[in-house]
Amino acid sequence: MTTTDGRTLVESPDNGTVVVTGRLPQPALEALRAAHQVDPWDSEELIPREELLRRVRGARALVTLVTERVDTALLDAAGPQLRVVANVAVGHDNVDVPACRERGVMVTNTPGVLTDATADLAMALVLMASRRLGEGERLVRSGQPWRWSMSLLLGRGLQGRTLGVVGLGEIGRATARRARAFGMRITYSSRSPADPGVVEDLGARRLPLEELLATADVVSLHCPLTPETRHLVGAEQLALMRSTAYLVNTARGPVVDEEALVDALRAGSIAGAGLDVYEDEPRVHPGLLELDTVVLLPHLGSATEETRCAMAERAATNVLAVLSGGQPPNPVA
Ligand code: GLV
Repeated sequence: MTTTDGRTLVESPDNGTVVVTGRLPQPALEALRAAHQVDPWDSEELIPREELLRRVRGARALVTLVTERVDTALLDAAGPQLRVVANVAVGHDNVDVPACRERGVMVTNTPGVLTDATADLAMALVLMASRRLGEGERLVRSGQPWRWSMSLLLGRGLQGRTLGVVGLGEIGRATARRARAFGMRITYSSRSPADPGVVEDLGARRLPLEELLATADVVSLHCPLTPETRHLVGAEQLALMRSTAYLVNTARGPVVDEEALVDALRAGSIAGAGLDVYEDEPRVHPGLLELDTVVLLPHLGSATEETRCAMAERAATNVLAVLSGGQPPNPVA
């Protein structure tokens, strides 16, 4: 079979392609190419859905970015040869994991390699929000006159304040470690108690979510997006937070009810927010765009060169393991 752009695909079910839904760093692509026919979408533009549905036909593996929805329609379009969906992310809410399981398709992710980059970004948002750095940057760029003054853009320091970590997984812990270095105290809420060693190391106290929200100076979200965590922070939860507190989200947008967040920020019932992710990405709620008290980043959590290379390499390793009949290092539970 020859593709529209002239490449030959091997048709045997045992030799189907590895379809890659976006640009990957070269070393990962090379690793895949050394063993398999690879069909990458080589553009910064999102792959059109129709194109993706067409390309996946007969694929044995899909390497997906968080911008792609892996649903039953895509899985059906791929067909029964599909063995693995390797998501290039730690979060895998874009993949219908039960539907994959039903079809015997393994799902893998890329944990570990993006922990530090994402925790760095969470800490950056804590600092940006609490020290009003976005406002400061905008002021300088605006060309408006400014001068040092005792009252110019006063924020809040972190020393002695409390960081409430929602979800004490790898990224939550790494963020907490950074916050400790800034003199913060740590509380956390999670489904199960953390390892005693970790708790001791961080001096972290486990609290029910409501209590964490009511007592933290900064709340940082680090839980996965699941049906249980969708809108985990809504109007009711925001109402519990201190009027001097900040909310930071580097997890997934839908964990926060954005409409309720806009209302809380407008009413001044919380002091500010730092967001890297959005409910309907890449759309940003227009109410957020109008508010000076919120820092808005375009989903940059894992965006360092070395992290993205490592994520792609993980995904390639997972694909290679499954296609050679082995166990991938990072199956999604
Ligand atoms: C990125 O958002 C990830 O989940 O890795």
